[in-house]
Amino acid sequence: MKLITAIIKPFKLDDVRSELSEKGIQGLTVTEVKGFGRQKGHTETYRGAEYNVEFLPKVKLEIAVTDAQVEICIETITKFASTGKIGDGKIFVTNLEQVVRIRTNELGEAAI
Ligand SMILES: Nc1ncnc2c1ncn2[C@@H]1O[C@H](COP(=O)(O)OP(=O)(O)OP(=O)(O)O)[C@@H](O)[C@H]1O
Ligand SMILES: [Mg+2]
Repeated sequence: MKLITAIIKPFKLDDVRSELSEKGIQGLTVTEVKGFGRQKGHTETYRGAEYNVEFLPKVKLEIAVTDAQVEICIETITKFASTGKIGDGKIFVTNLEQVVRIRTNELGEAAI
């Protein structure tokens, strides 16, 4: 199992969510976040050091998937979150040790 964490542009959320649903992704968590990438938003120099003074609003998706779903999940997010312009976001993939469905005590892929 993997945990897919995707940072995307907020206005792309609806498209990405409905396409993931179409592809059989059963659940996800959404958080409003702020961040910056390699353009560093906007920077300001203060006493000789550069500080980031602007964080751009983004949406963070957290999606637990089976190994079989990883590829389609990444493809779908990449396709539907893309504008081709800077700031389209990033996808982080990490190993997921365990999942528990609280109601039933199911474990692992059965709990996804
Ligand atoms: N290395 C990183 N670690 C954690 N979060 C990141 C990282 N890079 C980007 N992000 C998050 O993703 C958001 C979008 O990043 P962004 O798409 O601007 O990345 P980029 O590397 O600058 O690519 P691009 O050149 O296409 O803009 C950021 O606002 C931040 O929330
Ligand atoms: Mg950027």
